[in-house]
Amino acid sequence: MAPASKDGVDRRPLAARLPLPNYVAGSKGGPWYTAHTYPTKIPPEAVAPFIEASTLPDGLVADPFCGSGMTGVAATLAGRRALLSDLSPGAVHLARNHTRRVSAASLHEAIARLDSAWMLDVERDLYWSSVGTEDGVVCGLMRHMVWSEAYECASCRSTVVLWDVAEPNRPLRRQVDCDICGWSFDRTRRRPVDSVPRWLTLAPESGGKLVQGDPTADAIRRVDAIGRRRLKHWVPRVRIDSSREMYIRSALHLRGVRTVADMFAHRPKVALSRLWHEIGLITDAAVREALQFAFTNTAWHASRMRRYNAKGGQRPLTGTLFIPQLVSEPNIFEVFRHQVRQVCRLYEALPDGDVEVAQSSATDLRWVADCSVDYVFTDPPFGNNIHYADCNIVWEAWLGNPTDHDQEIVVNKSRSATDGGKTLADYQRLLTDSFREAKRVVVDGGRISVVFHNSDDAVWTALLDAVEDAGLHQAEVSILDKGQRSQKGYKARRGELVPFYDLVMTFDKANRNTPRLNGAGEMALDAVMAHLESLDGKPSQARHLDYLYSVAVGAVIGGGARPIGLSLRAFERMCNERFERIGDSFHL
Ligand SMILES: C[S@@+](CC[C@H](N)C(=O)[O-])C[C@H]1O[C@@H](n2cnc3c(N)ncnc32)[C@H](O)[C@@H]1O
Repeated sequence: MAPASKDGVDRRPLAARLPLPNYVAGSKGGPWYTAHTYPTKIPPEAVAPFIEASTLPDGLVADPFCGSGMTGVAATLAGRRALLSDLSPGAVHLARNHTRRVSAASLHEAIARLDSAWMLDVERDLYWSSVGTEDGVVCGLMRHMVWSEAYECASCRSTVVLWDVAEPNRPLRRQVDCDICGWSFDRTRRRPVDSVPRWLTLAPESGGKLVQGDPTADAIRRVDAIGRRRLKHWVPRVRIDSSREMYIRSALHLRGVRTVADMFAHRPKVALSRLWHEIGLITDAAVREALQFAFTNTAWHASRMRRYNAKGGQRPLTGTLFIPQLVSEPNIFEVFRHQVRQVCRLYEALPDGDVEVAQSSATDLRWVADCSVDYVFTDPPFGNNIHYADCNIVWEAWLGNPTDHDQEIVVNKSRSATDGGKTLADYQRLLTDSFREAKRVVVDGGRISVVFHNSDDAVWTALLDAVEDAGLHQAEVSILDKGQRSQKGYKARRGELVPFYDLVMTFDKANRNTPRLNGAGEMALDAVMAHLESLDGKPSQARHLDYLYSVAVGAVIGGGARPIGLSLRAFERMCNERFERIGDSFHL
C-alpha cells in the first residue's frame, strides 16, 4: 500500500473536513450486500458519505474491524483507497473477495467446466427425487427438503414428528401434543431422538413450476442410502463446545454438535466436501478464490442452521449458531450456482479499486505507519451482542483457519478468566488499545468515526471511557439505519430489547479537552422533546422507540456526557411516563 499520497506530494494535513451527514441509510438489496452474508454488515452506501466528507479523492481510509469489508467497498465507490484488517480469517476472506474484482466471464466458464466434468452427474445422483401429488408421482431434481426433529413421547414411548403435529403454514407452537396419547411437552427443552425427511420441493423433469409434496417411499429410500455413504473427501472437524458463548446460547448440546462437521447433515457433507475438493484443484488462483468465496456462503446456507419458512426465504439466522427444529436442506449445487451469479453481480458493479486487506488485531497495527491514514471509519463489536469468532467458525473451518478467540474484543461470560473469558473491564481495555492505534495511524486533524449501539448503558460507558482513555475528542454524532432487522428479530423473540439504529460517533485527532457533563436523562428528554416538536404531529418512523433512543443517546454523547442510566429499558420507561404512546409511536 502506497503512502497517503500516490504522487509523493504531502497533502496529508489537508484532510477534507466537510460537514457530516445527520442521518444515513442503506439497503439490503445492493450487490455488495447479497454476495455473502456477514453479521452486522454495514451497507457501503451508508458509509460513503462519511468517507467523502472526511477525505480527498484518492485519500486513504482504514478500518481495523473491517468484518466483511464494506468500508473497502464504500471507499472504492467513493474513489478512495482503503486499508482493512480484522482478527478473523473468515472476515479477511470476505473483505478480500468483496473488494477484489474477478472477471464474471471467467467465473461463468469455470462453472460450465465444473458442470460438464462432474457437477451435473453428482447433482443428479444426490438430488434426483420424487413427490406424490394429486395427479400422481412427479420426478425431478430436489430444490429443498424439510427435515423435522422427532421426539420420544415420555408417556406412550411413540415417536412424535414435529412436522406431523404442527399446524400447516402457522408458526410453530412451543407446546406440542403427542398425536397418539395427547401428552403435551415443551419442544424447546426436549432432546430430539431423530431428524426425519418430510416436505419436498422439486423442479419437475418435464419442466414448468416447482412441485411440492410428501417424498415418495422411493425418495426416502434414496435419502437413507445416501445417508450411509462413506465420505470420500475432507470435511472440517474443528471442535465446538460449551466454551463458546454461541454454543451455549444456541443450545447446541441438544442438537448433538461436537465439531463443525456436525453443523451439516450427511448429504450436504457429501456434496460440499466434493465441491470444496474440486474448487481446490482449479489452477487459476483468482478464479479459485472467488469460487471459494461463493462456496463459504453456500456452506452457510447448506448447514443445519437453514430454517424452514413456509412463506419462503429459507435461510439461517445471522449472528447465531442456532439450529432450528424444522431444517430446510437445499440442493447444494443449485445454491452454489446462485451464489456464483451473486458474486458476478458484485464484480460487474464494483469499480476498479485499491484495497489492501490484512489479518490483525486492532489492538496492534504496528504494520501501519504513524499519521499515514487520512480517515478511520470502523465498527467494533458491541459488548456481548455477537461473538464473531463463534459464528465465523462455520466458514473459517473450511478455510482451515479459525479465529484466535482469545484476542476477540467481546464480553464473554461463559469462559473463565484463565480460559479466555472477558469482563466488561477487559472489553474496555482492548477497545482503548484499539482506539489508541487508530489515533496513532490517522493524520493530525483527521477524523475517526466509530459505529456503535447497545441497549446497556454500562457498555456505552465502557466504550466512551475507552474513547477518552485513548485521548480522542468527540465531535459529532450521526444516525445510521442499516435496513437489516434480522438480528433484532431474533433477539426480540427471546424477550430482549435491542436498539435498531446505530450511531456513528466521529472523533477528532486534536489536542483539546472536552468537559464531561452530567444529567444524561435531562439532556435525552430535551432532545426527544425538540425532535418530536420538529415532526409537527405527523406520523413517522422517527417517533418509534428505537429511533428516539438513538436521538437521545446521540444528544447525550454529542453534548459531551455519558448515557449513564440510559439503558433502552430505562429510556422506554421515561418515554412512557413523559409522552403519549400510540402503538409503537410517541407523541407530545
Ligand atoms: C461489527 S463487526 C464489523 C462489521 C463490518 N462493519 C461489516 O460491514 O461487515 C466487528 C468485527 O470486529 C472483529 N474483531 C473482534 N475482535 C477484534 C480484534 N481484536 N481486532 C480486530 N478485529 C476484531 C470481528 O471479527 C468482526 O468482524
